[in-house]
Amino acid sequence: MSNVYHMPTRIVSGVGALESLAATIKGFAAKSVMLVSDPIISRQSWYQRALEQLVAAGLSVLRFEECEIDARVRQIDAQGKRAREQSVDAVISIGGGSVMCAGKGIAIVGANGKSLRDCTGVGNFERRALPMVMVPTTAGSGSEVSQWTVVKDDENHAKLVCGGPLSFPDVAILDPAVLESLPPRIAAATGVDAMTHGLEAYTSSLASPLTDAIALEAIRLQASSLRASICGLRDVNARADNLLASSMANIACGNARLGHAHTLSLPLEGLVDMPHTLGVGVLMPHVLAFNLMVLPAKAPHVARALGVRLHDDCSPQQATDLAVSALRQLYGDIGFPMHWSRDALPKQQVREMAERAVPGLYAGTAGIERFKSMKITDDTVIESLAPRKMTVSQAEAIFTACIA
Ligand SMILES: [Fe+2]
Repeated sequence: MSNVYHMPTRIVSGVGALESLAATIKGFAAKSVMLVSDPIISRQSWYQRALEQLVAAGLSVLRFEECEIDARVRQIDAQGKRAREQSVDAVISIGGGSVMCAGKGIAIVGANGKSLRDCTGVGNFERRALPMVMVPTTAGSGSEVSQWTVVKDDENHAKLVCGGPLSFPDVAILDPAVLESLPPRIAAATGVDAMTHGLEAYTSSLASPLTDAIALEAIRLQASSLRASICGLRDVNARADNLLASSMANIACGNARLGHAHTLSLPLEGLVDMPHTLGVGVLMPHVLAFNLMVLPAKAPHVARALGVRLHDDCSPQQATDLAVSALRQLYGDIGFPMHWSRDALPKQQVREMAERAVPGLYAGTAGIERFKSMKITDDTVIESLAPRKMTVSQAEAIFTACIA
């Protein structure tokens, strides 16, 4: 089977990088842009300066600053239609993962003229998305370098993944100065999400030496900088490392894809409104232990990247155990929870979540429709690119272990 590595996004990084925003947009010969953000980010002084920069450059700026906690199909469809009607020729997203996913969805709908619901799955739209510039304001989702947009479909109570080579952002601007006012709790949650991207990419069955090199360095960089950016002095250099590690982790998982943590989290996010970062983060240590045991050559590398000093005679199982405990130690140090509350996922819903995970992460609307007619048993395997097959009953056990 051939392997493809594709990463066309230009990355501009460092303190002050945001000052290049207007010049970047002008580089697309754009005259009219849609600026996508949320009500909190759009109140920041640096955001207002970025807006002034665009207006001073002579650009017509159409604003959509009402993004919610998740990117929503109905908002994306409405704003995509608005972008078409107003002849918008580029989309700028300034915000966290949900804002960037919304901006990407708008750029897809704006170019293709059909509902995002009909574009979900892999490569289900024909025209290149409008040019996109992404400015992440959390170091977590990595959406700024990802072809994928993750959206909530309220009408069908589902979270859906949509993307393909035609929806890569054109430019990602990584300026650690915009992370300065990020609350530590959110910095921890998003930082853990980025860590899961690196870990899932490194352990994916589609991993290659190319993605392994990037994923492993992303894990190492993240593990060595998260404490310094969240606790104590909240160092700007550490925040710059978090941002870069977040993009690197997503470059790796964009090519090697994601595994069981994201697959199992998807029904939680769609049905019980579990925040993505909490879903994947709490699942990750369990999923890492589950998968690393079939990757004996990789387990020591993961442990070392997480900061463990391994002895040369350490067995793969010992390396796996040490890697998982190093990850848990990091969670403890940055204040990220190890469990979900009983209210967040009631035990009587665990079986339903395990069954709903069966179609996998990349199934889209069509895959969920097929799932409705499937007969699910304890031994049904969950669709995933992870190295070890996981059955519904094994998923049930992991969900149960995640509940406090
Ligand atoms: Fe994620």
